[in-house]
Order: sequence, then structure tokens, then C-alpha cells
Amino acid sequence: MARKKTLKDIDISGKRVLLRVDFNVPLDKEGKITDDKRIRAALPTIEYLREKGASIILMTHLGRPKGKVVDELRLDPVARRLEELLGTPVKKVDSVIGDEVSEEAAQLKGGEILLLENLRFHPGETSNDEELARSLASLAEIFVNDAFGAAHRAHASTEGVAHFLPAVAGLLMEKELEMLGSILENPQRPFTAILGGNKISDKLGMIDRFLDIVDNLLTGGGMCFTLLKSKGMEIGDSLFEEEQLESVGHTMRKAEGSNAQLYLPEDVVVAERFEQDASYKLVAVEEIPPGWMGLDIGPKTIETYRRVIAESRTIFWNGPMGVFEWPAFEAGTREIARAVASSGAISVIGGGDSAAALRKFGLEEQVTYISTGGGASMEFMEGKPLPGVEALLDA
Ligand code: 3PG
Repeated sequence: MARKKTLKDIDISGKRVLLRVDFNVPLDKEGKITDDKRIRAALPTIEYLREKGASIILMTHLGRPKGKVVDELRLDPVARRLEELLGTPVKKVDSVIGDEVSEEAAQLKGGEILLLENLRFHPGETSNDEELARSLASLAEIFVNDAFGAAHRAHASTEGVAHFLPAVAGLLMEKELEMLGSILENPQRPFTAILGGNKISDKLGMIDRFLDIVDNLLTGGGMCFTLLKSKGMEIGDSLFEEEQLESVGHTMRKAEGSNAQLYLPEDVVVAERFEQDASYKLVAVEEIPPGWMGLDIGPKTIETYRRVIAESRTIFWNGPMGVFEWPAFEAGTREIARAVASSGAISVIGGGDSAAALRKFGLEEQVTYISTGGGASMEFMEGKPLPGVEALLDA
């Protein structure tokens, strides 16, 4: 990917800046933000712009309201949290575009912040509507994209708007591209990727790519049962994506001829039902009983993976090894997290569930970098172009 201009490459002083962030944060039933990591991650860009006397028109999506106004997904709690974190007022409007928005934006003074309403209340956001992109662009002189987490979406506020304003990367975007890019381009070896999570369909692209790049590929989570099935094993009622079998077959053949060592679980914890307190037992992977389902990797597998991780100098981890939210099935993910944290390797975590697991086990501070992108980091690691990045000015 060509290097992109950042906000440090252009004169931003006193300018009106349209800043796309990814404040798609988790909310509880009362609408309270349960994890503000994504908001904190954008603070350096916001603070940098304020120091330069720029006025900031902030925009983000939250959830998937599908082009309609959904009151529970309004951005008022986000504005309040941002105010607390910055210690300065954040004005919020209740629409995405329109007269009120244009007037408020025009009145902004240097250092002031205006937050637009949830972009996805407007149907033109996800359809990358040109008119919406033009209206957003008309609010400012420069577009800064700091929303790495949404960079895999070609939406009006990520891709479309970049055609109508000088468009550069923010500091978080720059850091994400640097951290994820550096382990792909120049990893210290041995380089180990750990892939888990539920859906093999989401991960096959990464597995294929990693077979060309890494030294070791450790697999776990629900996704690995389709891999095991493709080797002719009985997997009981474990997660299985039948329509992926053919592609998985290709990947498994590629793995045989690859220099990368592909690891599958040797033993698994199986449960009678998909329930937190279901009865469970440990079995060898060849002995999953009919009607039972694998919900975690077993101790032998953990031991093997631990050894590989301890010898690695670069690690990329995406996706839990089991249902770590439930105590009976958390050991695999917990032990892999601990092994990564104590490995001394450069460790980069592709956001989403693996980041949540690190938080649960109190290990967030002990890895090198946790990406704020879930889908975006996966697509980046797969080598797919990210529309929100492609649209920025080349350096
Ligand atoms: C994410 O949470 O991965 C990003 O904010 C993108 O959200 P989306 O998957 O709803 O586009």
C-alpha cells in the first residue's frame, strides 16, 4: 500500500477540519458506554488539531441503524464521554446534514468541536451517496480520516468525502497502518499467527495469506472444526460451515506444500449443549462424541501452542480459542493470552474478541499493540485494499 499523507504533512493551522473517527463503542442496556478505548485512541489526533487552532467537525457511526433514526443509537453519550476525556465542551447536533449542521459548523472557532449525529441514520452513508459526501465536505476545508476501524467500508464519510476535500490520515490511522504493516513487511522471526473465533468463512483469507508469510499458524475456536472436518474427522455438533469445505480443502492442500507449520488442536473440551453450565469433558480431537460440541482447546494443545509462542519473536493474534466468556471454556484463550503477554515477542492483536479477552484477563498492557479495527484489521492482514485508506492523498 502506498504511503499516505497525514495531518502532519499539510498546513492545518486555523483550518476547519472534518474528522472521521470510529466511535462505534459498545453500550449496555441503559445506553452507557462499556468500553471507551476507541474514543481514547482518537484523542491524540483531536488534541493535535486543537493545538494547531483548527476547528473540528467530528463524525462517526454507531451500530447498524440501517438508514433510520434509532434513538438508542444517538451519539449524546459519546459526546459526553468525549467531553470528560478532553476536559472541554463538545457541541452535538441531532442531524447528520442540514441547515442546523451547516450553521453550527460555520460558527465554530479555533479549537472548538462539533459532533454530528450518527452517520448511519442517513441512508446515503452506507450506499456511499455522492450528494451526502458533498454535503459533508462542504462543512470543512480539510478531511482527516482517523477511523481505521471503518476503513474497510466504502461509505460516504470514509471514501466518498475524500474526493471533495484534501484528504489525509489522522495519527491513529497512521499508527494502525504502521503497526500492522510492519509485522507483515518486516517481521522478526519466528513469526507466529494465532487465529481463532467462530467463522472459518471470515478467516480463510487470512489463513491463505499467512501460509505465505508466517513460520507457524496456530488455530483454535469454532472455526477450526471445519478444518478438522475437511481432514475427515468426526466433529459431533461442533460449529461447521459446510459450504466452506471446498475452499478449506484448497487451503489445507496449500498448507501441506507451505513452509509455514499449520497447527490444529490435539484435544478439545466438548460440551453436551451450547450452554454455560452444560456438562463437559476433555477428549482427544479424534474422539469427539456424536451430539457433543467443541467449545475450547484442551491442555495438550495449550502446551504445544505455548511452546511455539515462547519461541516466537513476532506474534499476530486474532480470535479466541474457545467460549472464553464462560468459565468452563475460558482456559484455552486465557492461557494463550498469558503466553502471548509473557513471550517478549512483538505482539499485535487484531481487535474485536481477542482484545476483549485480553481485557478480561487483565493483560491489555502487556502486549505491544491492540488494533482498534476488527474487520478492518482482518482485511488489511489479508492484503485487501481498504477504501478509506486508498482514497487519501499519497505521500
Ligand atoms: C467495527 O466495529 O468493526 C467498525 O466500527 C465497523 O462497523 P461495521 O462492521 O458495522 O461496519
